[in-house]
Amino acid sequence: QVAAASGHTVVLVDQSDEILKKSTKGIEESLKRVIKKKFADKPEAGAEFIKKTLKNLTTSTDAASVVHSTDLVIEAIVENLEVKNKLFKTLDKFAPEHTIFASNTSSLQITKMANATTRQDRFGGLHFFNPVPMMKLVEVIKTPMTSQKTFESLVDFSKAVGKSPVSCKDTPGFIVNRLLVPYMMEAVRLFERGDASKEDIDVAMKLGAGYPMGPFELLDYVGLDTSKYIIDGWHSLEPNNPLFAPSPLLNKLVEEKKLGKKTGEGFYKYK
Ligand code: 3HC
Repeated sequence: QVAAASGHTVVLVDQSDEILKKSTKGIEESLKRVIKKKFADKPEAGAEFIKKTLKNLTTSTDAASVVHSTDLVIEAIVENLEVKNKLFKTLDKFAPEHTIFASNTSSLQITKMANATTRQDRFGGLHFFNPVPMMKLVEVIKTPMTSQKTFESLVDFSKAVGKSPVSCKDTPGFIVNRLLVPYMMEAVRLFERGDASKEDIDVAMKLGAGYPMGPFELLDYVGLDTSKYIIDGWHSLEPNNPLFAPSPLLNKLVEEKKLGKKTGEGFYKYK
């Protein structure tokens, strides 16, 4: 959405037409929210902005067949290294020489994905934040093999889509998640110990620390499955780090398919 809205030609790829239809509808809804603010007094210019953005956006269910005409691939699939590497290996065969590959992973090592391809120097991390149309940050990740030219292209692209890039080495969680995920897990542990209610913890962090959402609201917003993938991955890397300890309550909710806002229930219930 943000790439198309800033004039880039985008092909959105997913597994089925049904998912792509749902995604396109989500983008249209989000664009309507964007123009309400951006073109408050000019509804015609707003309508034109949506039309232009959607014109830049096509969809496909076959990544290999569309990658031949792309300069940049941004992967944002399931947080599973094996699945990501399988995709990158395939795309590496069909993409032009100059094409840069980037992953939007929250927690996996970029180097491990780059090593699945033959373009380690044209591989980096581009980590966006939910909701992407609103959050101004992008973390640009440079592995020891990412060339300076690739890194600069990723920084330029981030600016061209209207974001503020920061850079970080290829370390677990980069900057934001390395701080945010242990904080959210500490909130769950505080609640599990019975020290405070989740409602009070959320109110406390909003009114006492000025956060726009409390940790439980944010966990539900990010998705409990995503949060579990992150913490389980780090726990397997550093089993003795108490900040990365899994939470029985989080595991139970994920097992019950209570994944947060997207499934209608997580720590809270949504209508
Ligand atoms: N598309 C377009 N616009 C959107 C939007 C979307 N998906 N979601 C919210 N907005 C807009 C609304 O239209 C509204 O615009 P307005 O000011 O013109 O009315 C504005 O954002 C504010 O939205 P709301 O009034 O509905 O609600 P809030 O004031 O609570 O803001 C929020 C919503 C921007 C999501 C805010 O609560 C927030 O910043 N929350 C924290 C988000 C956060 O921490 N994200 C990072 C998560 S971690 C992550 O993503 C990393 C990953 O790897 C796990």
